[in-house]
Amino acid sequence: MEQGSWIRRMFEEGIALKARLGADKVFDLSLGNPIMEPPAEFDLELKRLADNPPPGMHRYMPNAGYPETRTAVATGLAAETGVPFTGDDIVMTCGAGGALNVVMKTLLDPGDEVVIFAPYFVEYFFYADNHGGVCKVVEPGSGFLPDFASLKSALSERTRIVLVNSPNNPTGVLYTRQVLDRIADAVRDAEQRYGTEIFLVSDEPYRRILYDGHTYPDVFASFERSIVATSHSKDLGLAGERIGYIAVSPTYEGKAELMDGLVFCNRTLGFVNAPALMQRLVAGLQGATVDIEAYQGKRDFMWEALTGLGYEVVRPDGAFYLFPKAPIADDVKFVDTLREQGVLVVPGRGFGAEGYFRISYCVDDQTLKGSISGFKAALLAHSQ
Ligand SMILES: Cc1ncc(COP(=O)(O)O)c(C=O)c1O
Repeated sequence: MEQGSWIRRMFEEGIALKARLGADKVFDLSLGNPIMEPPAEFDLELKRLADNPPPGMHRYMPNAGYPETRTAVATGLAAETGVPFTGDDIVMTCGAGGALNVVMKTLLDPGDEVVIFAPYFVEYFFYADNHGGVCKVVEPGSGFLPDFASLKSALSERTRIVLVNSPNNPTGVLYTRQVLDRIADAVRDAEQRYGTEIFLVSDEPYRRILYDGHTYPDVFASFERSIVATSHSKDLGLAGERIGYIAVSPTYEGKAELMDGLVFCNRTLGFVNAPALMQRLVAGLQGATVDIEAYQGKRDFMWEALTGLGYEVVRPDGAFYLFPKAPIADDVKFVDTLREQGVLVVPGRGFGAEGYFRISYCVDDQTLKGSISGFKAALLAHSQ
């Protein structure tokens, strides 16, 4: 709990700070809880279902989800990737967190290793631990892309999963096709070296939150044994509704057994199935998203303001986070200084990257604008 409490700690300190300074003097950029509302089609469909509920709308269903929803997800994915998915390759889940737990429960034996890339989403450690797994961390190279020497040494005979997250929380960095291909090559080498079978698992809840005309390089084209674990928490603004899915490469030869394992684990972890109402709603929304341009506007504003002040920040291609370098080595100390200025962010060490801090810009424009003078004062406080 100590290890995983950075974001929660900032949240609690935020409440105390608001009581001390007044809510309008506090600019909370610590949480990844997006303000964006789901697209209008969501509300229309919700109303239509409420007005004309199909019989049995709230009953149990097959543990993998409604066949119509699985088919709709598969059709959308096939159009995006060119990979011939069918509903048989999809398991509907309780968000990406649920999906990752189901995947790990299915694949890991006690002591198996999950290779993750720093900076990372800290929950990975706890998810792996839930299922007897151990995380091995790959250090970042320039621009927060993987350091491939570090990847090579992280891969071992116990590696079962290599877990990528692009666009990334906390950096917003997008892995290009070349980066995915290099990861896939390293994984194939390790499989040959150790005579093992490794899965490339892609945690991609930010897949549709991409800027500047980028398209998404999918993992299936890079590696044959790929699994996607994702959700509509961010792209449809449905984080509280717990709806996501797992997609398995349709050409993987062990697919039938893998799918049986995933469906069994979705059931026996106690999820049973993804929420029924949400499954019905997202089936018709596979091409829809929240307003991505609005996020891009926020990215532009924050990145320009911070780099203008003199912060060193990688320009993100997606998601809704910035991961600037702290102007002093001690990120916790710098985050304390920012807090004294009414600005709440999360120290980089909470994501395995000391000396940085994370900004969540999925908040209203007033909060973003209001935070800038605090960023300026904090920088000044440490430049004397
Ligand atoms: C990288 C990453 N993976 C997984 C999740 C969990 O998403 P969900 O709410 O769909 O479980 C999050 C949520 O913030 C995330 O940032």
